[in-house]
This record gives sequence, structure tokens and C-alpha cells, in this order.
Amino acid sequence: MKGLFITLEGVDGAGKSTHMKWLPDFFREMGQEIVITREPGGTPLGEQLREILLHQPMTQETEALLMFASRQENINQLIKPALSSGKWVLCDRFTDSTYAYQGGGRHFSNDKIARLESWVQEGLNPDLTLLFDVPLAVSRERLGKHESQDRFEQENDAFFEAVRSVYFERARRDPKRFIVVDSTLPFEQVRIGLEAGLLEFIGQHK
Ligand code: TMP
Repeated sequence: MKGLFITLEGVDGAGKSTHMKWLPDFFREMGQEIVITREPGGTPLGEQLREILLHQPMTQETEALLMFASRQENINQLIKPALSSGKWVLCDRFTDSTYAYQGGGRHFSNDKIARLESWVQEGLNPDLTLLFDVPLAVSRERLGKHESQDRFEQENDAFFEAVRSVYFERARRDPKRFIVVDSTLPFEQVRIGLEAGLLEFIGQHK
């Protein structure tokens, strides 16, 4: 794999989407070709699975399997081909979300997630993960502004506290892969800090 695989993570309402708007241009200005994708979703089938995942009731097992079904399509149709041709991939959520939401939020078996991860990813892992973090009260405030909430956004505080703490734990255990962003700061301050962190990471990976 020649390209860099970069993922964005965080609880709903952490500001990931806001920063996804300028990040691609930041990389393009460095002369990099960028492929943008998301999970669940990214491919035509993945987007159909996303609709089902966000709105249809289902068991935890089905939820985990469909997340990985969407991931399987995304990896094989978009992520691997892009990385092999030297492009950088920016993916809005990946397997850290499954550990955080299904493992943490829903208490789904980490062991089963790990088995699906190794089956579907065959060793493909993000090179860098940007974790956007805000306290629950802030994400709740931001989410409250949406009119219709999906199956995940409707979850309670305990669910999101668990999601957030799994993210922290994964970032703590793998500090070289993660940049943790304090997303309570004003947009411009977050952007400047993140640019510095990205330049440092890229410098080390040249
Ligand atoms: P998004 O709105 O940030 O695009 O994400 C859609 C929702 O899907 C979000 O609430 C988190 C959830 N999700 C999981 O529960 N597990 C996963 O593996 C992924 C990728 C997303």
C-alpha cells in the first residue's frame, strides 16, 4: 500500500463533519490525490446498508455484521484500489467506531468484533486517526439542533459515555496512530492545531 489511510472518529455531534470540509483541500494543496469515503456507506451498496443501519430495528449481531458488510465493500471497491495507486484515503469513521458504538455502547462482544475485523480487513488498518472529542453535554447540545435523529443519535447518555470512553482507551493504547482533538475549542483554533499535528505526522511518514 502506497497511500495514507486516514480516519475521522468521534461521538455524534463532535464536529467531525465540520472539519471534513476543509481537510481534503489541505491535503490537495500538498499535491496529494484524495479519496473521500464514509462508513457505514461510501459505495452504492454501502449507502443502502447505511439507510437500513440508521433507521431499521435489528439485533446487535445484525448491526455488527452489516457494519462490516458495508466495510467489506468500501475496502474492496474504494479504499484498497485508492491506496494501491498512491492516493490518500480520508474515511469518515471506520472500525474504531465499531469498537466504540457496538462494543462500548451496546456491549457487543469485542472478541466477535476482532474476528470480523481480521476477516474483513486482512491487516488493513488506518495509518492515522483523528479523534474529535467533546464532553457529552456539548455533543447533546449540538445534536439537539437536528430535527430527526437516527437510531444511534437517539441513544441515552450512558451509551455515549461508553462510546467516548472506548475511544479514549483506544487512543491511549495506540498513541502513534491517534491525534486527539479538543473539539470544544473554536473552529479556527482546532483547525490550526490540527494542521500542525498533520504536518508533523506527514513529516515523520515521508
Ligand atoms: P455518522 O452520522 O457520523 O456518519 O455515523 C453514522 C452512525 O453510525 C453514527 O451514529 C455511528 C454509527 N456507527 C456505528 O455504530 N458503528 C460503526 O462501525 C460505524 C462505522 C458507525
